[in-house]
Amino acid sequence: MAGEPSEPIVVAIDGPSGVGKSVAAKMLAQALGFHYAQSGAMYRAVGWLVESHDMSPRDGDRIAALVAETMIDIVLCPGQSAVWVHGRDISEALAGEAVGKAASAVATLRAVRQTVTAQLRRLRCHGSLVMEGRDIGTVVFPDADVKFFLDASLDVRARRRWQEMRQAGYGGTFEEVRQAIAERDEQDRTRALAPLVPAADAHVIDTADFSIDAVVQTMVSETQHNILRGNV
Ligand code: DC
Repeated sequence: MAGEPSEPIVVAIDGPSGVGKSVAAKMLAQALGFHYAQSGAMYRAVGWLVESHDMSPRDGDRIAALVAETMIDIVLCPGQSAVWVHGRDISEALAGEAVGKAASAVATLRAVRQTVTAQLRRLRCHGSLVMEGRDIGTVVFPDADVKFFLDASLDVRARRRWQEMRQAGYGGTFEEVRQAIAERDEQDRTRALAPLVPAADAHVIDTADFSIDAVVQTMVSETQHNILRGNV
């Protein structure tokens, strides 16, 4: 179509746990007709594997060997991304804070980050893409066409996550959820490799006072504006 960019467009969305990146990224991908990729699912798959093998997240050499010999694939399906290990879709096993914590721990390891980052970069070959995570705009796709960093205070994110979990039948306290998110934040922001930080050219959106629809609308407008401006 005339005026359409010929190269695949990459939209990067980063931000801390519980900020609503997955929902926003899925909605944005749908609105734009792009693929959606959840990079955290790859780290969750490694965390899940490490737990299934009764390894400690600190056992870097054994984890590097395990990741090297395991076929972990991120698969783009319409409106969602799935993770397959040795040809089996394990996406359902990856939900929940326990796997998130294991993912955050293994995500500090160089061998894990190198393997996952290489897999994520390949996804651009499938066409235009919205990818969400922690280091998409800084490390995976520093040349992304549009970058967003979604943020909100710890209390706002913990409350949202706790409400979601309660609706799904979780019986724990708000304080437990808040503590788990705070620990993951600390680990993701302070690690030596690819820490969670907004890219210098990211549009930072504080989501605290906005509905998810309003956040997505802002991102749709900004992305379209960039495409029309020929920034892609
Ligand atoms: O987005 P998520 O909660 O599913 O991610 C789980 C963990 O994976 C997160 O706490 C840190 C790690 N992660 C990462 O280091 N880099 C990414 N691009 C995505 C996730």
